Amino acid sequence: MKVLVATVKPFAPAALEGIKKELQAAGHEVVVLEKYADQAALQAAVKDVDAMIVRSDKIDRDVINAAPQLKIVVRAGAGYDSIDTAYAKEKNIVVENTPGQNANAVAELVFGLLVYTVRNFYNGKAGTELKGKKLGILAFGNVGRNVARIAKGFGMDVYAFDAYCPANVIEEAGVHAVKSQDDLFKTCDIVSLHIPATPETKESINYKTVNQLEKGGILINTARKEVINEPELIKLLQDRPDLKYITDIKPDADAEFKQFEGRYFSTPKKMGAQTAEANTNAGMAAARQINAFFKDGCTKFQVNK
Ligand code: 3PG
Repeated sequence: MKVLVATVKPFAPAALEGIKKELQAAGHEVVVLEKYADQAALQAAVKDVDAMIVRSDKIDRDVINAAPQLKIVVRAGAGYDSIDTAYAKEKNIVVENTPGQNANAVAELVFGLLVYTVRNFYNGKAGTELKGKKLGILAFGNVGRNVARIAKGFGMDVYAFDAYCPANVIEEAGVHAVKSQDDLFKTCDIVSLHIPATPETKESINYKTVNQLEKGGILINTARKEVINEPELIKLLQDRPDLKYITDIKPDADAEFKQFEGRYFSTPKKMGAQTAEANTNAGMAAARQINAFFKDGCTKFQVNK
């Protein structure tokens, strides 16, 4: 089978080597398309492929229509909002993700960004510490659980809310479970977002939600920009000069957010999963899943059933 590794944002070289070896050992041909200029380049590259490994690459109707032989797409990562999963299903294309494989990398970045923020972006002025602060984790999935683990090392008081995870599971992890998203914002000094981008969560983090943070609150987003109502968050930051917004996903309104100097920071490029380890874990898992699909018809990680 012909497998295309298509990544606008390339894997670390060692990870790509591992992916190639894993697939080639199973007898597959591997082609690589990195840093491609536009969707037309992706459409041209998929015309004769049977399988694909992607990251946040946009797999829309046009890409799917350009790939008549395509049988499986594996998103080396967690979020698959960039893939038209329903249309893939119509075309009998299996879509899978590799849950958990890059979670630690994202969780570590949360704390890299948080220390940078509470120390005033390293401007020399006295900042604050994370120890003893209340951290709220919105969604207790793989990333949320890793954030909780690391937060405890910092001596933080950790809270979480997840509409799909029972309170006892959260409590068993040594984390306080709160009853609602609103309660999380009302209770915590810092709220870290780990919700996926779905129709339900789209723009769900709005003026009213974030305004519930106490004085000096911090909102940190390493999830998706789509979950933020950007015009409302801008209005809130204007009304509440005590609040800060830190993100790993540059907002569409980045230029407007830049008015909040010292209270807004965005990484230039999404960095959460950009570690050699995360690339290797997610990429190798994707390669193994493709091998298992063609060998045994295994679809354990399918997300478009
Ligand atoms: C994910 O959903 O797995 C993360 O957001 C990482 O995305 P990336 O592979 O585009 O860096």
